[in-house]
Formats: sequence, C-alpha cells, structure tokens
Amino acid sequence: MKRLSAVLVVMTIVVSVLMGSAWGQFAKPEEAIAYRQAVMVLIGQHFGRLAAMVKGDRDYDLDEFANNAALVETFAGLPWEAFMEPGSDKGDTSLKPEAFKNKDTFEQAAQALENETSQLAIVAEGGDLPAIKEQFGRTAQSCKNCHSAYRK
Ligand code: HEC
Repeated sequence: MKRLSAVLVVMTIVVSVLMGSAWGQFAKPEEAIAYRQAVMVLIGQHFGRLAAMVKGDRDYDLDEFANNAALVETFAGLPWEAFMEPGSDKGDTSLKPEAFKNKDTFEQAAQALENETSQLAIVAEGGDLPAIKEQFGRTAQSCKNCHSAYRK
C-alpha cells in the first residue's frame, strides 16, 4: 500500500511539475521528498527488470527490454526539481545535505543519468545484446556515482 500511495503521489504531482519549471513547485518539502522517492522507486523497479535480463536471471526479450528502458529514460527526467526543493534536505529523506551545497555537481550527476538512460533506450531498440550490456553497465555506474556522493 505504501508503494501504491507513492505512485498516486507521483501521478498527482507530475501534472503540476509539467506545468511549471521554476524551483519551489511543491506546497511542502514533504511532498517533494515523497515525489522524488516515488520516482526513484519506479526507476529502481524498471531498472531492476533490465538488470534481471542483463544478468540472465530472466530471459532476454527485445520488446520487454526496450519498453522498460524507455520507461527508465522517461522517469530519469522527472525527479530533479523535487531534489532541489528548498527545505527538503531535512525530514524523512536519505538525501545528503551536500547536494544543496554542491548543486552544480548534483545536477551534473542527474544529467549523466539522463544521458546514459537515453543512450540505453536507443541501444535497446537495436537488440545487440553485448552493446546493451555495456550501456546498461554505464547507466548503473551513473546511479552508483550519485548515490555514493549524495545518498545516505
Ligand atoms: C543524481 C543523483 C541520483 C541518481 C543519478 C540516481 N539516484 Fe537514486 N536516489 C538518489 C537520492 C539522493 C536518493 C534518496 C532520496 C530521498 O530519500 O529523498 C535516491 C533513492 C533511490 C532509491 C530508494 C527510493 C526509496 O525511497 O525507497 C532507489 C531504489 C534508487 N534511488 C534507485 C536508483 C537507480 C536504479 C538509479 C539509476 C538507474 C538511480 N537511483 C540514480 C539520487 C540519485
């Protein structure tokens, strides 16, 4: 149920985020935290399905891989505004306060994920498994880079 309500929070807030682009789109810092955590849960779920196919725990299926890669690419564009919401470095969050002190490098790490997931979605369409695995590895590395710097 917790996950379901997180998804509902995303669906409600995504509309308001798409309508505006300045910082401070959320009524309360807790909403920004719920939003970005929900998006990360979605990224984690769909990236996990890719991982299962890359590792061979699940049979590789071109369409399934490409669909999940496209979802991850879309989700990768969503959470960054919520990460920079003023006041959201405190409360029920694993975001390190360093992210606020180093906004530029945090944004670079976010951009790196967007670039890698876009590339992954392109490679996925081609169905060349060794190339897919390599690009999956680069994408996973961009998750790790940001988590080790900015996630508690
Ligand atoms: C630019 C930084 C950044 C990148 C890139 C990034 N994450 Fe995260 N992620 C975070 C931060 C910070 C948190 C903690 C958010 C919070 O608690 O407010 C987080 C949280 C998470 C969570 C836990 C969500 C929850 O609250 O239950 C998962 C799962 C996750 N990330 C998966 C991923 C995966 C998979 C990738 C790569 C495909 C990725 N992340 C890329 C910064 C990033």
